[in-house]
Amino acid sequence: MTSLAEMAVDVLTTADGREKTAKSRAHAAAWFAARAAGTPLPVGQATPPLRPARPEAPALLDPREVPKRKPGSPQGRIALLHAVAHIELNAVDLHWDILARFTHVPFPPGFYDDWVKAADEESKHFNLMCDCLEAEGSFYGALPAHAGMWRAAEDTAEDLMGRLAVVPMVLEARGLDVTPGMIEHFRKAGNSGAVAALETIYAEEVGHVAYGSKWFHFLCGRHDLDPRDVFHKLVRTYFHGNLKPPFNDEKRAEAGLPLDFYWPLVESADA
Ligand SMILES: [Fe+2]
Ligand SMILES: [Fe+2]
Repeated sequence: MTSLAEMAVDVLTTADGREKTAKSRAHAAAWFAARAAGTPLPVGQATPPLRPARPEAPALLDPREVPKRKPGSPQGRIALLHAVAHIELNAVDLHWDILARFTHVPFPPGFYDDWVKAADEESKHFNLMCDCLEAEGSFYGALPAHAGMWRAAEDTAEDLMGRLAVVPMVLEARGLDVTPGMIEHFRKAGNSGAVAALETIYAEEVGHVAYGSKWFHFLCGRHDLDPRDVFHKLVRTYFHGNLKPPFNDEKRAEAGLPLDFYWPLVESADA
């Protein structure tokens, strides 16, 4: 691989989850090794697929057809781990997609470092969830999964600010709201492996939301736009549904998401 964009497309066009994350981690290591050596790889150009390659299993279903999870039962907790694994695999592709799709927009090197680091961490998260599933006698692909997750990427394929608003600043921020409750379910069930894995995910996701906020504000500054107003406009354009409290205000603040960004969208996201 000679450029970051080519590495991104290599990940996006790999279907198997473990193979995708292995490539993702190897490419991230190559990117950071070249940066550390003072010989950074070029960003380059490549054409990412509209939809990333995915394994044959899990079957992707309409969200209404995915069975409801009851985390009080062992089967429900397996379903929860499976759902998180699916989210993490999507996140790997989402971060590589932003690196490949918007190469025409100039950025300082920190932009690429941030999203390569995020992609590397999502790859670790997917592997952690697969390990937890396998420890419970299951695996990624054993259950159906949510089909709608790539929609945010397709909707914002031509709008980088929309992508930043919806993916890290809405969807990944939502992860900060719900992960502590998930950790509690596994703690009550005495599954210390899943607790440790989810705590790693929870800690690192704050950084991904922060990268979103940082580069969103960077672009607002470049184009002389009011960040809060533009955020509201973009979320109303590209995000289908309302934002749902309760919010994790503390972690959102840590990630650079002020209260007045998300509270006004609780009732009016599809207005
Ligand atoms: Fe993650
Ligand atoms: Fe993330």
